[in-house]
Amino acid sequence: MTIAVIGSNMVDLISYIESMPNPGQTLEAPDFSIGFGGKGANQAVACAKCGADVFMLTKVGSDIFGQHTLDNLKSYNIDTSCCSIVEGMSSGVAPIFVDKNSQNSILIIKGANNCLSKADIDKATDKLKACSLIILQLEISLDTVYYAIEFGHKHNIPVLLNPAPADPNLDLDKIKYCTFFMPNESELNSLTKMSVDTDEDVVKACQYLVNAGITNIIVTMGSRGSMWVNKDGFKKLDAFKVKAIDTTGAGDAFIGGFSYHYSNSKDIIEAMRFGSAFAALSVTKRGTQKSYPTKEEVLQFLQNN
Ligand code: RIB
Repeated sequence: MTIAVIGSNMVDLISYIESMPNPGQTLEAPDFSIGFGGKGANQAVACAKCGADVFMLTKVGSDIFGQHTLDNLKSYNIDTSCCSIVEGMSSGVAPIFVDKNSQNSILIIKGANNCLSKADIDKATDKLKACSLIILQLEISLDTVYYAIEFGHKHNIPVLLNPAPADPNLDLDKIKYCTFFMPNESELNSLTKMSVDTDEDVVKACQYLVNAGITNIIVTMGSRGSMWVNKDGFKKLDAFKVKAIDTTGAGDAFIGGFSYHYSNSKDIIEAMRFGSAFAALSVTKRGTQKSYPTKEEVLQFLQNN
């Protein structure tokens, strides 16, 4: 069973900072690290590290990052046969700032990610039709995302949409055919304009989306845990307690772990638990993809926790 990821890749330029400089101010930061990221690529790598077969559809630029990004995906045995380099475009890059409380602020410059089009989905039809799940995020054009959802619906392939980064223009009518809708609390707030301060608030905001026709909403809430809401009710899972060093890419880690487990088990709660463990381990190390654990490490962690 192959999992498809139709989405973004970025090169993460991570500065570890004491505080953000004010306009006109120069400040020294203690550390810097460069690594492969992008929500789509992170989710693809997380699935692959769990042992899933992964097919990725993404576009890179013709700069120094493009080929390295494709080589990185290949190093995890991810099928990149339908990926391409866009001549004259820059690759996606993400300057990231991680503060001393391990919280991150991210800027994204989409570059070639913006060129992933409906035609690319059409060209990959045969590969995509053989997949058991399609994962999407919002770092590519919305039209391409909507087309991929229609594709999944037409071919009876479940679709998981991670609405990140938040886009207030997301059309609820066009995303209602997703099997899973997976925002974090701030994305849920931005879409529904409803409070997400308490668990009760989160459930109410999700119920608004259920009433709009979305089947399963799973909200990732960091150290607050995760919440699954559908028409039958809700279920909250606590987060594992770990010492967080760098939370960048933790949501992507959850989605990768969830998708791998769900594709095999079809058990939503157990898949959330696996995703939560995968994410918990990822925040104990610096970086995005390079902080992701192996499947064996996750299984060991679950045994001990
Ligand atoms: O979700 C984390 C990711 O967001 C980073 O890897 C960065 O590239 C941005 O896409």
